[in-house]
Amino acid sequence: MKNQSQWKTSTGFILASAGSAIGLGAMWKFPYMAGVYGGGAFLLMFLIFTLLVGLPLLIMEFTVGKMGRTYTTKIYEKLTARKWLNIIGWNGNLAVFILFAFYSVIGGWIIIYLFRVLIQLISFNSASLNKINFDHIIANPWLTILGQGVFILLTMIIVMLGVEQGLEKASKFMMPLLFICLIVIVIKSLSLHGAMSGVRYILQPRLEDISIKGILFALGQSFFTLSLGTTGMITYASYASKEMTIKTSAISIVIMNIFVSVLAGLAIFPAISAFGYKPTEGPGLLFKVLPSVFEQMSFGTFIYFIFLILFLFAALTSSISLLELNVSNFTKNDNTKRKKVAIVASILVFLLSIPATLSFSSLSFIHFGAGTIFDNMDFLVSNILMPLGALGTTLVVGYLLKVDVLKQFFGNDRFKFFLPWYLLIKFVLPIIIIIIFIAQFF
Ligand code: PFF
Repeated sequence: MKNQSQWKTSTGFILASAGSAIGLGAMWKFPYMAGVYGGGAFLLMFLIFTLLVGLPLLIMEFTVGKMGRTYTTKIYEKLTARKWLNIIGWNGNLAVFILFAFYSVIGGWIIIYLFRVLIQLISFNSASLNKINFDHIIANPWLTILGQGVFILLTMIIVMLGVEQGLEKASKFMMPLLFICLIVIVIKSLSLHGAMSGVRYILQPRLEDISIKGILFALGQSFFTLSLGTTGMITYASYASKEMTIKTSAISIVIMNIFVSVLAGLAIFPAISAFGYKPTEGPGLLFKVLPSVFEQMSFGTFIYFIFLILFLFAALTSSISLLELNVSNFTKNDNTKRKKVAIVASILVFLLSIPATLSFSSLSFIHFGAGTIFDNMDFLVSNILMPLGALGTTLVVGYLLKVDVLKQFFGNDRFKFFLPWYLLIKFVLPIIIIIIFIAQFF
């Protein structure tokens, strides 16, 4: 990554940004949020926000990255000649730092489950998958800290060695495999007795389930899944060459994200109604429900193992983009400092991730603001820092950048909707973000 054109082909760029976007957000966070905030109503709001807010913002971030071609704590100054605007980049950097800390808690859970299932497989143990007791696992601080430590370590090694590109190549087949695996789970889930009420729960929007909080969290969810407002996508686009088709990339990422989120919903909710779980289970939802589904499949333990590997892979392609942003900002794209910065940032993230993981065990008694320490970290990132970052960039793009230059970088390919996009960015989206942002304080 010594110069700015890291990717020689559009595919590399799409794979990297899709890898950053598709991760725990769609598979773990979407079902748990939908379960808490009204099922179908949440899905509807999420779809509206993703298409009307998320997609134009993603195109915006790609355009800014392509124009600025530098790290994001510098890019705003480079584009506008106003140094103080780099604060948007620092806001994004702070966001990914905290995000990585609580993201690694869930990454750690995947690793713990993976080991449990592996041990069961190699010892030919036919015990029920339901024996893997989620509450037991998260109540063990040492085990969970170890799990997240391993997750951060894996991310660090990949980023230190600069082998992300290898991982992105692997995602060419890992992603489709993940889709197939999700479809298999959905089919099994739908065939369960009593599945239909779960399908109705997630697909049928009930107006009475729409709440201000739900709207707020649905917006936060589209920011989270599309990695928006952290400037992570700006960083990736800054490595892309001028010919990259940003709109096609953005559209395919948005479609894939919606696809995975809906599949995750259709995998989880039918099983919730079939097995009598509570949709409002919270962050542990996926981990509690899925073993019961695999339990019903032939070769279920083995397929669960494969699923966990693919799930971990998807989480890692996102976490490397989180660490990569720090590396890019603190090395100022000087590769000789890469290893040092990756190590220091990872150690700091690990320290910050400890209170996040302990909010499920020894620190679970601490409740304030949005809930536990973990909930507050997520809220701060998804509902405050990400929208603020995106708002800052919309204002820069709408009011400080020259329209003709913007248009040139926006590209003149198949999708020629520059004007509606520009008007959205300049007039509509800042107002939507501000209204929803303020609404949360009432
Ligand atoms: N979009 C990722 C996910 O849904 O798992 C999370 C994420 C990655 C957010 C990178 C922000 C970011 F910069």
